[in-house]
Amino acid sequence: MLVAVTGTPGTGKSILCDYLEKKGYTILRLNEIALNNNFISGFDKKRNCYIIDVDKLSKYIKDKYKDYKGIIFLDGHFSHLLENLDKIIILRTKPVELKKRLLKKKWKKEKIRENLEAEILDIITLEALEKHSINKIYEIDTTREEIQKLGKITLNIIHGRFKNDKTYAVGNINWLTDKNLKLLG
Ligand SMILES: Nc1ncnc2c1ncn2[C@@H]1O[C@H](COP(=O)(O)OP(=O)(O)OP(=O)(O)O)[C@@H](O)[C@H]1O
Ligand SMILES: [Mg+2]
Repeated sequence: MLVAVTGTPGTGKSILCDYLEKKGYTILRLNEIALNNNFISGFDKKRNCYIIDVDKLSKYIKDKYKDYKGIIFLDGHFSHLLENLDKIIILRTKPVELKKRLLKKKWKKEKIRENLEAEILDIITLEALEKHSINKIYEIDTTREEIQKLGKITLNIIHGRFKNDKTYAVGNINWLTDKNLKLLG
């Protein structure tokens, strides 16, 4: 089972995946895999980063893990763009908290603004919905939750323990308020 753990940078994908790894689950860190295998389609000069060739990465993972029986979590802010995903977990963070986390990364103002904008406008959720069926997609608010709790919620989702519970269904999170827009300056 392939499970994408996606979300705007700073929403906590990697610390959630670290926790799941400690619990014995297999984690694929997509950035590392893409760079190590040269699944690169270009260089984004404005953002000073490589552009990942998602199709090549997707095919590589599909081929390599086609006989794998367990659960694999894919850590990366573009993991929702891969094919053959069984579930997509989107981590969401209240913009005011996300801004604090991104400031700690010492990113440039412009990059922080761009990512806050993406979070406020639900960009990752919209991209995921374009590619995958809505009933495979879940959103978890990481603003205040402890990592252990987030881990438990994730595992409950994956193991189908929330069948009639709409708490983590797409559409519950809405950051598009005047207060949040003010953060963009
Ligand atoms: N639930 C949380 N509570 C408190 N702090 C958190 C939480 N989730 C993440 N953080 C903090 O936010 C920062 C970013 O977390 P993390 O690196 O896991 O994000 P990410 O989604 O993997 O980002 P990137 O896309 O840049 O890799 C870290 O300093 C982490 O400790
Ligand atoms: Mg990360």
